[in-house]
Amino acid sequence: MEFYTLSNNVKIPVIGFGTWQTPNDDTGVNAVLSALKAGYRHIDTAQGYGNESAVGKAVKLSGIPRGDIFITSKLTNSMHGYDNTMTSFEQTLRDLGTDYVDMFLIHWPNPLQYRETWQQTNAETWKAFEELYEAGKIRAIGISNFRRHHIDELMKTAKIPPAVNQIRLCPGDTQDELVAYCKEHDILLEAYSPLGTGKIFSVPQMRETAEKYGKSIAQICIRWSLQNGFLPLPKSVNSDRITENLDVFGFELSDEDMKMIAGLTGCVGFSNDPDKTNW
Ligand code: A2P
Repeated sequence: MEFYTLSNNVKIPVIGFGTWQTPNDDTGVNAVLSALKAGYRHIDTAQGYGNESAVGKAVKLSGIPRGDIFITSKLTNSMHGYDNTMTSFEQTLRDLGTDYVDMFLIHWPNPLQYRETWQQTNAETWKAFEELYEAGKIRAIGISNFRRHHIDELMKTAKIPPAVNQIRLCPGDTQDELVAYCKEHDILLEAYSPLGTGKIFSVPQMRETAEKYGKSIAQICIRWSLQNGFLPLPKSVNSDRITENLDVFGFELSDEDMKMIAGLTGCVGFSNDPDKTNW
């Protein structure tokens, strides 16, 4: 597995195993175990996914040394603020069965319950993140679903800049301005829903491109994500697909095809505007 280097010099495997909608039961444990067996060394979970204990169980069962696996989790929407962050982070450690996480993200910039106070609340949350980072309990801190104005606001009080912004990035949903802004500020883009949560499989241009390269549509998407400098987080509970989604290093998409895929505007919908969601 290849690595990106984060702005604080921590190395992160270039593909992560996504677990959104992966259940917190044997199916979830087996999915993460299959991923680890297939060679993934980066697992992306969240308090809000409700499956941290399945992830923790799989990590233990795999027998792979903890230090060889990069685990990301995210602060849930109902627990913003300094004290809430501290409390819920301890629960994350218990659920994952570990004494540190590799990365911890603010999952959403302005959940509904903080919609009027998100600027102040994120500043307090981030202070807790920075303390946990300084204490060695988190190796890198970051954000998710932040748009430019949320990042600018956070930077007014942050001592440590976010190492990543995890956003929805997939064919036809490329958030170009935000991507350029993050790249300019050395914030790595993590791409969730790199397969458009499965919707990409019915897009004819993707089928044609997959045939042309002799690859699957999923492999084309993941390769496209990597060639953009993103860190894709494909999700699957099927062991064959899990293996397939990692087999993306032996070919290269042409510039022309990269542009064509980016230009499939809206083919799998668009990311939610955090300022307008009702959660
Ligand atoms: P499953 O979990 O049954 O494999 P995203 O990563 O964009 O959220 O997309 C996840 C969706 O794509 C899931 O429905 C998953 O189904 C499906 N999926 C993941 N990998 C593949 C693959 N290689 N081929 C077909 N479907 C896939």
